[in-house]
Amino acid sequence: MSQLFPPQEQAFDTGVLDGKNLVLAIPTSSGKTLVSEVCMLKAILDGKGKAVYLVPLKSLAREKYNEFAKYEALGISTAMSVGDYDSPGTKLSDADILVLTTERADSLVCHDPEWIHSIAVLIADEIHLVNDTSRGPTLEMVLAKLARMIPTIQIVALSATIANGEEIAGWLKAELVKSTWRPIPLSEGILLDGRIRFSDGSTRAIRRSKGDELIDLVCDTLDEKGQVLTFVSSRRSAVSVAGKIAPFVRPYLSREASQELSRISDRIGGGPHAPEASKILGRLLKAGIAFHHAGLASQERTIVEESFKQNLLKVIVATPTLAAGINLPARRVIVRDYRRFDEERGNQPIPVLEYKQMAGRAGRPKYDEYGESVLVARTDDEYDFLMDHYVSADPEEIRSKLASESAIRFHLLTAIAGKTVSNRTEIDQLIEGTFFSFQYSSHEIDEHVSSALAFLEEGGLIGSDEADHLYATPLGEKAAKLYIDPVTAILFRNVLPTIAEATPIGILHLICSTPDEPLVRVTQSEQEDYDVFVAAHEDELLVSPPDEWEDYDSYSKFLSQVKTARMLDDWISERTERDITEDYDVGMGDIYRHVEAADWLAYSASEIARVVGAWRLLPSLQSLRARVRDGVLPELLELVSLRGIGRVRGRMLYNHGLKTLSDLSRASLDQIARVPAIGPTIAESIKQQLGLEVGESNKELPLTKEGQETTDSAQTLLEDFGDKEN
Ligand SMILES: Nc1ncnc2c1ncn2[C@@H]1O[C@H](COP(=O)(O)OP(=O)(O)OP(=O)(O)O)[C@@H](O)[C@H]1O
Ligand SMILES: [Mg+2]
Repeated sequence: MSQLFPPQEQAFDTGVLDGKNLVLAIPTSSGKTLVSEVCMLKAILDGKGKAVYLVPLKSLAREKYNEFAKYEALGISTAMSVGDYDSPGTKLSDADILVLTTERADSLVCHDPEWIHSIAVLIADEIHLVNDTSRGPTLEMVLAKLARMIPTIQIVALSATIANGEEIAGWLKAELVKSTWRPIPLSEGILLDGRIRFSDGSTRAIRRSKGDELIDLVCDTLDEKGQVLTFVSSRRSAVSVAGKIAPFVRPYLSREASQELSRISDRIGGGPHAPEASKILGRLLKAGIAFHHAGLASQERTIVEESFKQNLLKVIVATPTLAAGINLPARRVIVRDYRRFDEERGNQPIPVLEYKQMAGRAGRPKYDEYGESVLVARTDDEYDFLMDHYVSADPEEIRSKLASESAIRFHLLTAIAGKTVSNRTEIDQLIEGTFFSFQYSSHEIDEHVSSALAFLEEGGLIGSDEADHLYATPLGEKAAKLYIDPVTAILFRNVLPTIAEATPIGILHLICSTPDEPLVRVTQSEQEDYDVFVAAHEDELLVSPPDEWEDYDSYSKFLSQVKTARMLDDWISERTERDITEDYDVGMGDIYRHVEAADWLAYSASEIARVVGAWRLLPSLQSLRARVRDGVLPELLELVSLRGIGRVRGRMLYNHGLKTLSDLSRASLDQIARVPAIGPTIAESIKQQLGLEVGESNKELPLTKEGQETTDSAQTLLEDFGDKEN
């Protein structure tokens, strides 16, 4: 990097280095991160305090964390935290730069640790997500809370896709830098009848030789040694389209690349019980292509992204999960699907904002000299539509999504518990600081605020004294610190003290009845199965079923809760990953997401059981949590407490007679190493963890044991739960 890009210069001309707030609304890949890095370094080196870098996704958190590691040389340390909500992040207090997901930052605010007041600068990356129904409210609330707690805080907000930057800047009292300058030219075009027509009037003929225009479009870039990222609308399409293109990609691989890919693909889908999807992914990788969607385990996702960055993989076919913020070497982005299925509204055109984010993955400075994005039209009319509605269109304006009863409820509880506010006037001031109030009027959510407060008070989560001071009750405080929905806390409080004993399926169903556990849908054809399952387990359920005839919607939601609980029960009964992914039509990434939420909720239930004095349940809640975490039967709990031992290796050891830690202590190194899926390195690590001498070796346990067991859940979970703070 020799020179600043012009919009970066513009940014520094605003006084941002003197502490002014800034909204940087400049194109994808124009170097927004660098501007924010300079602001962070300046504040830190001037001794003003810490910097927080907020991101929407864990994957982006990792990318940024790795990027900022280089400042270690300047004595500036970076930490990352993306989970572990119930902790004040004491270890974070030593770091200069904190990379946090929005939710983690919000949970920290609620813990109100001393060090939080030493934040000098806050970077809000991908600020357009204020527009997102599910994540937006938390993003604007955390900014409003921090601005209230730390009046001197400097806020720098970044996005390539905000049409109403003036409004965002008005809200944040910030300078605004807007630009259309991009370091690497990006041509946006549409393919029609074998020719791409770009918005600047130029065209490019695509040789039709493969009998499929998408494949022709891919090969056209491969012919020129470029890499291709194709976006499709569903996971199923991602897998099938990648399979269709694969045979045409292989000829473009060098011998070295083929060998390397073959080595890498051995790390995926290896074991006999690996999910089918992992096996397909492994085979595709060898051909130089991969699919990428949220159903992949995070380890698989990382392998795909890294191999693409190293130019080993030539093509990725992805769902839009790959779109935001990530730096990838795609010369050409193909947006094959511009419609997406929506349960309520059917097939819908995607927002322009999303299209622009996808297109913006092409032509990134580190990797390419130019970039292209291509939509695909079948008719002249469709071409006109795509040109008007996407290529030549501006992204939609960002609109606050805070006016939601459940969001307000949640955030008022955390704000009261975290002592950000302590009476109605202060709540009104806090709301006054949100984007919602700036854009509409705080009066429009007055009613939501009042009914949320009434709800929290009736639910026993908050109370008020004679002076109308609001405070969180012990239950409310616990719920806020656990960062769970008030509805979840109320359900646990109501149910836990009433039961003497519970079976795993009973507790799992209770967990799945909260708004915090994502659900697996029940299809029409499965409904009967689940009716039968419910009848068989009715006595065990701690939450009774709603009446099917009176309230069908609630009943079908109830069935989804039951199905999710059953899937988790299969997980803790050691059914194989292959079986679970097939039976429930989910990916490993989904299983881990459900497991992660259930793990947290089992922990939350035990914490709330303490608050409400339901002591008898503690042992079963704690054992269930441990089982959920590792996906094991109780007999393996001792073995999986070892690092590197998950459900697969644990089961192997157990079945070979090594059932406890003392069995392992007594066994020889060789004996342990001979157990399938263990090998010498893991055996040594086991001995070391048991505090026993293992000769001269002092090897670190590898994160995955290549070639042997790549779907070891404990390891993947380590990745998924990866919280540098722990
Ligand atoms: N002045 C510069 N000279 C050369 N390369 C630069 C410069 N500034 C940034 N870069 C590089 O440009 C690339 C893209 O930068 P960055 O990730 O910050 O983009 P962005 O603006 O955040 O885009 P997006 O909106 O897609 O997130 C990075 O690889 C970065 O190292
Ligand atoms: Mg970025």
